[in-house]
Amino acid sequence: MKKTLTILSTFLTTIFLGLTFATSAANAAELSDAAKKGQDIVFDRKKGNCFACHAMAGSKLPPGNIGPPLIAMEQRFMDKSKLRAQIWDATVNNPESSMPPFGRHEILTEKEIDQVVEFIHSL
Ligand code: HEC
Repeated sequence: MKKTLTILSTFLTTIFLGLTFATSAANAAELSDAAKKGQDIVFDRKKGNCFACHAMAGSKLPPGNIGPPLIAMEQRFMDKSKLRAQIWDATVNNPESSMPPFGRHEILTEKEIDQVVEFIHSL
């Protein structure tokens, strides 16, 4: 009985790991170079730290829920410049926003914001 369980759990772990690698490989293949750089910035605690407030795919740490989950971004932000404007200064849309104005406060450079937009738009 114990042996059956061990075999079963090894089998399931293998499938699980296989799936994980398959999906991350697929994601990596789809991302452009700019989007990959953006991904690093988004998950860097000293840069974007976006998952402190937003749930999103690829987050390795438990995300915060102060902001809405960042999903289906392409459908919701057909116009990339609107997405960029939100990240550059969220207080334009909502003066009470708790989201840091990454552009206005120069937390990120213009180039870094472009890269973040590429990544977020791919979610
Ligand atoms: C301190 C919390 C906080 C951080 C950090 C933060 N956000 Fe936000 N974000 C919010 C809140 C709250 C909203 C809801 C709208 C508003 O208040 O501006 C929001 C809204 C958004 C939206 C609009 C979502 C929608 O569905 O309309 C996007 C896109 C976004 N954030 C991207 C980012 C990105 C990219 C980063 C990192 C570079 C980031 N946020 C970091 C709190 C945060």
